[in-house]
Amino acid sequence: MPSTDAPAHEFVIADDSTPDLLAQCVNVRIAVFVDEQQFPLDTEIDKYDEPGKSTHVLLRLVQGLEPIGTIRIVHLSPTDKKLGRLCVLKPYRNFKFGKDLVLAAHDYIRKQAVTSNGEDGPRLSVSLHSQIYVKGFYAKCGYEEVGPEFDEDGAPHQRMIRYL
Ligand SMILES: CC(C)(COP(=O)(O)OP(=O)(O)OC[C@H]1O[C@@H](n2cnc3c(N)ncnc32)[C@H](O)[C@@H]1OP(=O)(O)O)[C@@H](O)C(=O)NCCC(=O)NCCS
Repeated sequence: MPSTDAPAHEFVIADDSTPDLLAQCVNVRIAVFVDEQQFPLDTEIDKYDEPGKSTHVLLRLVQGLEPIGTIRIVHLSPTDKKLGRLCVLKPYRNFKFGKDLVLAAHDYIRKQAVTSNGEDGPRLSVSLHSQIYVKGFYAKCGYEEVGPEFDEDGAPHQRMIRYL
């Protein structure tokens, strides 16, 4: 479905300074990964959800501010980021929201690097662990497979990487 059919939406940064928005991101994650995909809650919430470790992008509808998607950016180092917990509520899939969340995360990472390093910032490494069925999605977002498949939280995954 073309993105022009998508309901009016906005992307908002959520971190430790905005606990209400952060809780909305976590609730979307639980709806998708725990309720829909049946991953256990105690692996869904992990060490990267501890204060200071990550930033989320929240996707919400303009009308009513309903949260409908999110992605988590883990700050491994100033130049090394890890994306994860990307999810869009089922009724809102195939509107390009997933891809736009990845692009919003890239924008945030780039802007943060420019702010702290000036216009000619260093090369930024962005990695992720993709569920196997969604590798093609991440390939469309510019990610390349690195290394063999491995088990994570009881499901096969593939490490993928892109440089910004
Ligand atoms: C994965 C997910 C975020 C994709 O979001 P989405 O909004 O439905 O996807 P988009 O509309 O942005 O898709 C962008 C492109 O990727 C393609 N795509 C989407 N899902 C795909 C998949 N599983 N495999 C291959 N390609 C896929 C789309 O066809 C589209 O291609 P196009 O640009 O050529 O038209 C969504 O399906 C989801 O929330 N799934 C459940 C949670 C999950 O598994 N997350 C991934 C954890 S690793």
